[in-house]
Amino acid sequence: MKNVIQNLIEESQKFLFKRAKIDDKIGLEAANFAVRDIPKPIGKFEKSDSPLIRYIGEAIKHGNPETADLLKALEPALPYLPWKYNYEPRPDMPDLADQMGWGEILGPEAPYHDEHFCFGFTLLGKNTFYPSHLHPATELYVILSGHAIWTLDGISKVRSPGEFVLHPSNHIHSMQTEHEPMLALYTWSGKDVKTLSKYV
Ligand SMILES: [Fe+2]
Repeated sequence: MKNVIQNLIEESQKFLFKRAKIDDKIGLEAANFAVRDIPKPIGKFEKSDSPLIRYIGEAIKHGNPETADLLKALEPALPYLPWKYNYEPRPDMPDLADQMGWGEILGPEAPYHDEHFCFGFTLLGKNTFYPSHLHPATELYVILSGHAIWTLDGISKVRSPGEFVLHPSNHIHSMQTEHEPMLALYTWSGKDVKTLSKYV
């Protein structure tokens, strides 16, 4: 599994390196990960028993030629990512923990330890609303598979595989999938990557 994860990290850095050549805010965030020194892992990757595993087969099917290589590197790793969902429970949406989550590879509590930066993958089942939330970290997403409606500061847009989305620190955002699950790479950077995301 170590080689699968190592390969996934390298492919992810390669993907972001291409975008880092454009000199804008997204390019800067992409560079932050693309040229980052990745430490040796201190934790293990074991087969996950997350309910999200049921979406993996379908979640990798909705990529495009741009994201195909990265999805190929991601596919064998998906069942072994440390999938979690750690928002406070919402009585109005009791199924969220079964419908969405993220597997963090690099971060303060991830198998690859970094106190100041996070990198992982987010998975949303189909017909799922990831409610409005915010966090101090600056967040960069790359959509790898699935079309979904992404909302930032009240403006909604259908986003496709290969697109980059930047969520500045403490800006409210949400996602809504329809008939396709959605798989995306994410990074967190900035002064505070330890304060968890909160629903608003
Ligand atoms: Fe976020």
